[in-house]
Amino acid sequence: MLKISVPATSANLGPGFDSVGVALDLYNEFYVFNKVKEKMPSDTHLLKSDSLAHQGLGLLARYVKKNIPEVEVAIKAQVPPSRGLGSSATLTVAGLTAANFLLDAKLTEQEMITLASEIEGHPDNAAPALIGGVVLSMITSEGIKYQRIMPAQPLQAVVAVPDFELATAAARKVLPAQVSHKDAVYNTGRYGYFIASLLTGDYSSLDLAMEDLLHQPYRVPLVPGLNKVMQAARNSGALGSCLSGAGPTILAFCQDKSQEVSEVMQATWQEHGITSSTYLLNINAKGTTCSVISG
Ligand code: HSE
Repeated sequence: MLKISVPATSANLGPGFDSVGVALDLYNEFYVFNKVKEKMPSDTHLLKSDSLAHQGLGLLARYVKKNIPEVEVAIKAQVPPSRGLGSSATLTVAGLTAANFLLDAKLTEQEMITLASEIEGHPDNAAPALIGGVVLSMITSEGIKYQRIMPAQPLQAVVAVPDFELATAAARKVLPAQVSHKDAVYNTGRYGYFIASLLTGDYSSLDLAMEDLLHQPYRVPLVPGLNKVMQAARNSGALGSCLSGAGPTILAFCQDKSQEVSEVMQATWQEHGITSSTYLLNINAKGTTCSVISG
């Protein structure tokens, strides 16, 4: 039986809409097994045959022109679904990783990221889920290009996950087809500054570098309290804060005061009538792991 562990991810990180994501140390575990020969592990549930994991298995098999492995996939889920923490990418990546192993396909990292993005529509969650760290990506005429970096100084992510779901498709529908030149410049300046801050470890202006005008303002109606919770996190010691992916989770980067920041984020959301759970997470550097276990 295969055990595949795929990290949660947070995309955008403020100004990097559809272009950057970070892997976090919270995991969905997948068990890939043959139901005739092996028993489904306890505390897991079986994924349906049309799940993203099965789509990943099928896509990779077609890519290498082999038969789709006849396996079941069970999940032990820890990543909250439909909250902007890359839960769907964990399924896609798990399916691809399983097929890569079972078919002995030995695909490159580049090929895996490309196939995952084909299913996901964009690489910002799939790439860090596969390879860990902070991954910058761009979709080019020559395919997906990506660079993996690690922050020069440690950062902890406080994520506040509200008790309601938001589908990415719905959160993309509210985005405008066009933005002004001024707003585009606002974001390009900040995105460059944000990445430079991670690379140098100079986080003194991270709060400003994580501001955004390309997606967060449009998503405020879908995430009540968004600006208030982000502001409260910064006021209580966070270095910067943002909507995690398409939301509704809010992420705050901290060097210390993580506990205090998480309590304030939760309390601020409660003022808006929203109950949330918080997680204090480190950046995952490894990405997806796959091992053979007995079962
Ligand atoms: N970058 C995407 C968005 C989320 O903000 O719509 C990634 O799944």
